[in-house]
Amino acid sequence: MKQIKRRKFLALSSSSAIATLIGQCSMAQTQNNKQNFSPDTQINYSKDGILEVDLTASYNQVNLGNKPAYLFSYNGQIPGPRLEAKPGDTIRINFTNNLLQPTNIHYHGLHIPITGNADNVFLHISPGDRLTYEFQIPQNHHAGMFWYHPHLHGLVAEQLFGGLAGLFIVRGNLDEIPEVKAASEEFLVLQDFALDRQGKLLPSQELSIMSGREGDLITANGQFQPNLTIPTPGLLRLRILNASTSRFYRLSLKEHPFFLIATDGGALAEPVEMSELLLTPGERADVLIQANREPGKYPLLNLPYQRVGMGMMGRGMMGRNAPDNQPQVLATVSYDTKVAAMPLPTKLIPVAALAEPQKVRRFQMNHGMKPGQGMVFLFNGQPYQPERIDTQVQLNTVEDWELINTGMMDHPFHVHSNAFQVLSRNEKPEAYRAWKDVVLVKPGETVRIRMPLRDFTGKTVYHCHILDHEDLGMMGNLEIQA
Ligand code: C2O
Ligand code: CU
Ligand code: CU
Repeated sequence: MKQIKRRKFLALSSSSAIATLIGQCSMAQTQNNKQNFSPDTQINYSKDGILEVDLTASYNQVNLGNKPAYLFSYNGQIPGPRLEAKPGDTIRINFTNNLLQPTNIHYHGLHIPITGNADNVFLHISPGDRLTYEFQIPQNHHAGMFWYHPHLHGLVAEQLFGGLAGLFIVRGNLDEIPEVKAASEEFLVLQDFALDRQGKLLPSQELSIMSGREGDLITANGQFQPNLTIPTPGLLRLRILNASTSRFYRLSLKEHPFFLIATDGGALAEPVEMSELLLTPGERADVLIQANREPGKYPLLNLPYQRVGMGMMGRGMMGRNAPDNQPQVLATVSYDTKVAAMPLPTKLIPVAALAEPQKVRRFQMNHGMKPGQGMVFLFNGQPYQPERIDTQVQLNTVEDWELINTGMMDHPFHVHSNAFQVLSRNEKPEAYRAWKDVVLVKPGETVRIRMPLRDFTGKTVYHCHILDHEDLGMMGNLEIQA
């Protein structure tokens, strides 16, 4: 509705019409637009090699778990529209910033240019401004589950916590594997919110941002405890994104194991069975679930997890984020006929081993105090400095990075542009090869990752994906040189 209205205004191409429009938008932001948006996320598929979509970030009344809430959203939807494309497609995103603060968009996990109007986190889009993002998905891009969210340093946590996040799916060979193709597919975007009684966002001073803000209202696809039905034949492909600012999800589905088929950066070589799945912020998991128990309704649980060390808990660090010690129901999975279990795939997509590294680097993650500023979060003893290049790497080389957590909180490490493989955790080799772009490093752990630097040069970042930690300094500039 709103977008059509805006187009009409622009078609008049009169500056007074535009002025009226901008007036309306800022009024909407301060007075809370009474318009109710549909809770259904819109899906945009590429067609004839192109995906063009209008995205507007704004502050609006939305429908969250069937209650009105006042949130930041893309196109009035929580989560934002799901975008679907294929390798080789051209993507054009006509973005409008109707927030009262600057923003930009990061395409988390996509392997696309990091400069110009592509995955450039240094762009700054002022309130009221527009920008057209344009890039191509490389012909050899992995099929997988990626996502988009704001990335303006200092405002990332606040804007994500306000609701700004959407899925970006790349379809490809994984989707064509017969058993995968035959499964019924559902997406689960997990977000948490801290709202007051009127459904308005609690101000950040009331949140425990040092440990990473969490909200007690957990939603899946913008709904509260939605039900996912598995139609006959009984195989569900559940594709889960942790789009929370700081909250971890330790997932388990009653009486049903998960068969992991893909991680952040694409498919595994073969399914891996697991009874529970830990997803830290930014991580994705693509799992198959066989409907082979008694017909019924099974809760998908979020089990307790403690991500801040006891030493810090004592000092009241967690505040209202004190870990829940009860499992919570996030969604239910149900089916009403018992069918002969559909077969699982035995082979997926090979994950090639990477060449030996040309260079090994160390990144120590910790926090410290800065006079007048309180707690800061650090890589190698330094908080983020926009002008400083922290790490210079050479295109077409392979590097090993040792991620060492010497602090007292969990830190999910994330790097832009290239996916990596985890080699070991405290010297213990990983059980299987997988493409990742976020990896959890717990206190006392050293995680070794191997990363090929491919295709794109320029400046980008790595950071902790607890986005308050990122905003409070745990980020570094990475320069990829030709
Ligand atoms: Cu999902 Cu730099 O982030
Ligand atoms: Cu990212
Ligand atoms: Cu962190």
